Amino acid sequence: MNKLSNCIINRDTSYIPIWFMRQAGRYLPEFREIRKNNQDFIKLCLSPKLVEEITLQPTNRFDLDAAIIFSDILMIPYGLGQQVKFEKGKGPILGKLDINSALNITDDEFIKKMSPVYESIRNVKRKVKNKSVIGFVGAPWTLLVYMLNQQSPKRDFNFNTVINDNSIVIKLLKKIEEIICLHIDKQTQSGADIVQIFDSWAGLLPKDKLSQFCFAPNQKIIKHTKNKKIPTICFPRGIGKSYRDFCHSVKPDCINIDYEVDPNWAKANFNNTPIQGGLDPKILLKDNISLEKEVQNYLNIFKNYPYIFNLGHGVLPDTKPETIDHIVKIVRRKNEKRSSEG
Ligand code: CP3
Repeated sequence: MNKLSNCIINRDTSYIPIWFMRQAGRYLPEFREIRKNNQDFIKLCLSPKLVEEITLQPTNRFDLDAAIIFSDILMIPYGLGQQVKFEKGKGPILGKLDINSALNITDDEFIKKMSPVYESIRNVKRKVKNKSVIGFVGAPWTLLVYMLNQQSPKRDFNFNTVINDNSIVIKLLKKIEEIICLHIDKQTQSGADIVQIFDSWAGLLPKDKLSQFCFAPNQKIIKHTKNKKIPTICFPRGIGKSYRDFCHSVKPDCINIDYEVDPNWAKANFNNTPIQGGLDPKILLKDNISLEKEVQNYLNIFKNYPYIFNLGHGVLPDTKPETIDHIVKIVRRKNEKRSSEG
């Protein structure tokens, strides 16, 4: 069994696996090189040879325990017929959503459009030995936000202006949930060992809407992955103290904490749910002494607790690749020390 699954399923605490969200990305010169010649991001995500190459860039450089498939959560809106573009400095820009045609997309049509993603996973799986292959999806609420708002939501995001016609929203959410489950199944059938669900905009929800738009949809997907015995990591970013209720009601196999969550509080309140992540990606831009202190802090808090080392959000583009290497070595050293102590 791979190291991440052993931590998640068996709650093993003898080894701390490590990988990074956005481990393939702009902080790597070899990624920027490919990106320079491939301006169309969606097209890039649909090129199996390049996806394989980009996915393996970080695992070739660093001693990581997982390869996360290079793709994007916005492949689902794309698969449902919405135009998706990424403009420099602006982030994602989506076309107007044709709700009826999205509701009418069949499973076969979706699978056909995504088949290069599945082909990439099969290729990556053949190449990585002794590492987990991680597939992923956006959570229903986060995808709904992008699909209706047509871009990343601003700080002044207003729930009621984006979510105005409730009956349509409910139908759309249900369709998104079904397609997410399909996309998860196809990724795992192609070789993904573990799945992560990114609810990146859960923190925008007013407290009285969290249960309907964050907990319930994540729970449906977790029921599905539990049925199929697919280890699944949830990441409801930005929900603060509601992380506790999330763990108790959704019961994910593993939970990724963001950097606003106090790790000691998490350890005491999540019912022994395996925890991943937490470290603020901005710490990786600081001097080595501060960095080492913060990394050790997470390692100390989570000794004797099932923990996967990762960040509280993705690696920032200004991060030096050597910093990732440095962190991997600190975590590895800790693991070696522990095994020699028995
Ligand atoms: O290495 C990995 O983690 C795997 C690949 C991955 C990407 N996106 C590639 C990517 C993963 C897991 C994602 C998830 C994703 N995509 C999320 C959830 C995680 C989070 O950040 O909260 C979200 C919200 C998106 C949507 C998205 N994609 C945005 C907002 C952006 C632009 C902003 C940014 O960070 O650049 C993207 C583009 C994107 N997806 C890039 C990468 C490497 C940058 C591409 C580039 O400009 O060269």
